[in-house]
Amino acid sequence: MANTILVGAQWGDEGKGKIIDFLTGKADIVVRSQGGNNAGHTVIIGGKKYVLHLIPSGILRPGKTCVIGNGVVVDAVSLVGEITKLRSDGIKVGKNLVLSDCAHLVLPYHPLIDGQREKAKGKKKIGTTKRGIGPAYGDKVERVGLRVGDLVQPAIFSAKLKARLKEMNAVLKALGEKPLSFAKIEADYLATADVLRPFVTNTVVYLHEAIAKGKEILFEGAQGTFLDLDHGTYPYVTSSNTTAGGACTGSGVPPHRMDKVMGVMKAYTTRVGEGPFTSEDKGITDMLHGMGREFGSTTGRARRCGWFDAVATRYATMVNGIDELSITNLDGLDNLPTLKVCVAYKLGKKKLNVPPNDLLQLQKCEPVYRTFPGWQTNTEAAKKWSDLPKNARAYLEAISALTGAKLKIASVGPGREQTIVL
Ligand code: GDP
Ligand code: IMO
Ligand code: MG
Repeated sequence: MANTILVGAQWGDEGKGKIIDFLTGKADIVVRSQGGNNAGHTVIIGGKKYVLHLIPSGILRPGKTCVIGNGVVVDAVSLVGEITKLRSDGIKVGKNLVLSDCAHLVLPYHPLIDGQREKAKGKKKIGTTKRGIGPAYGDKVERVGLRVGDLVQPAIFSAKLKARLKEMNAVLKALGEKPLSFAKIEADYLATADVLRPFVTNTVVYLHEAIAKGKEILFEGAQGTFLDLDHGTYPYVTSSNTTAGGACTGSGVPPHRMDKVMGVMKAYTTRVGEGPFTSEDKGITDMLHGMGREFGSTTGRARRCGWFDAVATRYATMVNGIDELSITNLDGLDNLPTLKVCVAYKLGKKKLNVPPNDLLQLQKCEPVYRTFPGWQTNTEAAKKWSDLPKNARAYLEAISALTGAKLKIASVGPGREQTIVL
């Protein structure tokens, strides 16, 4: 029995959805424990593309149960939209989905505040997904948030919304937005409550009962290590704990029930949104965009791209306690004659082996690269380790060793079958 926490080891979009889908084959339950519909997890099955935002990627496998845990922030309208879309695609969403009554709600004022704050920051904007994630977690921390448990009790929801909206409308006005209509939000949200009520439960109890029965649980991280509120490139981060600890607080499953941490990383690096990115490289960005790759699954924005940053992933191994690695998108590097890997940062005359916490220092860091020979062979059809070109294997071994964890999965394409298990 192994309960596995899967985390992104870079800046998000590492291919977590694809790896979760692959691993769900052997798990019983998949849990989202943080983030909201800022996430976009892509799964391709038999050529059909699914993008999951709030619902765990495990929903695509019949017979598995998916849990939206207490640590997630839920935009109820978006969640109902996602359920409807999945059902129209022929995916069953019923008893296989459970939703925590403690999860906080993203309400219509949150995205508006998010958008206005970004506007006010001008060039210093974070580059958020404008899904209201920061303001929703802000309300949770300030103890003024509304939760799923409120939503499904109409009288309680209406009273809490009315009181909250009074303050929020004053905030919206101050930020230059029009005030929102209580009646409209109440009507829209109570309609979602009727759809969501059957899914709502105490997911902590649900998960502990499942553990007692020996069920195997996968925790599907959203975002990535360097978007973590505490450990990321603050303030260019999201508003939740995206690192392994977030899986415990966001689900109510304690640390000693977790057996393994898997880190997912691309064979290169991407980042969407603003903030420091030491190994960013125009050449590799243009190459990947030219291949039609690296456009965001949630906002469609072009992702910034760069060489593999082993300084960052080594730190991710430390913060998350990564035991095993899944390295995705190896095929993206197939055409290159040589590859670079960032093995240290240079800050003035100093050589750094961990990213500095100070933003100004991090912005000044220069990458120190080691060069590797490319393989210039298409890897997309490789089914096993020995099918990969020698230089590709050497590259994967080198970046795993630099990251400090054991390579378990190599991914050579977005499809389920394009997955090599070591
Ligand atoms: P997530 O947010 O971590 O789940 O990642 P996204 O779904 O946002 O972005 C990863 C992108 O890479 C998606 O378009 C996936 O379909 C794609 N992908 C994942 N693994 C591979 C791979 O090994 N090769 C290729 N070509 N695409 C991959
Ligand atoms: P998945 O789960 C990549 C980024 C945004 C922005 C910052 C803050 O698909 O890997 P937010 O809307 O959360 O306040 O934005 O975080 N971001 C992501 N980047 N993948 C994601 O999720 C992300 N979720 C948020 O681009 O830089
Ligand atoms: Mg994504």
